Amino acid sequence: MKIGKSEFGKLKSGEKATLFTIANESMSIAVSDVGAAWIGAVVPSRSQGAQDVILGYPSAADYQGGGGYFGATVGRFANRIGRAAFSLGGKTYKLPPNEGQNSLHGGSDTWAYKLWAYEVLDDGLRFSFESPDGDGGFPGNVKASVCYRLNRENKVIIDFKAETDAPCPINMTNHAYFNLKGEDQGDILAHRLRMRTPSYLEVDAESIPTGKILPTAGGPMDFSQEKEISRDIAQVGSGYDHCFVIDKKSGELAEAAEVFEPESGRGLRVLTTQPGIQLYTGNFIKNQPGKGGNRYQKHAGFCLETQDFPDAPNKPNFPSCVVPPGKAYAQQAIYAFSW
Ligand code: GLA
Repeated sequence: MKIGKSEFGKLKSGEKATLFTIANESMSIAVSDVGAAWIGAVVPSRSQGAQDVILGYPSAADYQGGGGYFGATVGRFANRIGRAAFSLGGKTYKLPPNEGQNSLHGGSDTWAYKLWAYEVLDDGLRFSFESPDGDGGFPGNVKASVCYRLNRENKVIIDFKAETDAPCPINMTNHAYFNLKGEDQGDILAHRLRMRTPSYLEVDAESIPTGKILPTAGGPMDFSQEKEISRDIAQVGSGYDHCFVIDKKSGELAEAAEVFEPESGRGLRVLTTQPGIQLYTGNFIKNQPGKGGNRYQKHAGFCLETQDFPDAPNKPNFPSCVVPPGKAYAQQAIYAFSW
């Protein structure tokens, strides 16, 4: 693998961000220490040559505070915690709410906005971050890392790791937005999606899980047979923004989703060790300045965020996401490209 390193501009703090590229013989990806984010993937196609298929912000500074969390490594707790509070070991932890009364993606002081330390590897990059006890309202000193590697089979392998000195809920994900036609090529509605997800988490009007796990069969949430993302999207409000339950054993690495874009012939398979996958169809994107001077509109990209179940800290029937001291959190996600 060839690893490139260049300046990515200054952050609001004055610190400098760095951009890295990881290339094999046919494709490359770009990652940055700001938010330990995945900010590009230049992928060949059957008909259109190579294009960047990941949405990005115009500058490094935009990654700090971006409401869309473009490409970011999200923590400590990806997705939502209802009423921004949870109880653990007889104590209630109150988090600063940042979406109405709820906590989204680790709150306003999220790991997604931090400058991470980096280490260049032979086939990729490792970013690490130390989150002190009380950071974002969460207990425990946590050492987190995320490692991006690219292999010869065009698989992007992401390893999330964390250790804590006090029990703490941890849920790390990558929040890349893909448009397999090209990041500046309109919307993703004609992409074809299949998911191995027999059920999904019912949510309330604030997107907080009710605790009910409902079957996907036969309804708009049913992706067991490949279908266009657009087909049933009108039945789910402004678009998909739901956590699906993957058909696999706990901790097992298994395929969760497969996407195909007919014009370019590009495909993407997503594998994960995590129990859930959030399908988000960029419903809140509106005239968002993007990299390369273009503007992204609604449905400009889709996210397939592998993760623990949202609001798990408050839902005893969901798999526990509490990491105890002495037991490392380790999850893997693989995004495999084809064309
Ligand atoms: C997640 C959430 C969405 C939205 C995006 C970022 O996918 O589920 O509701 O907040 O992040 O815009």
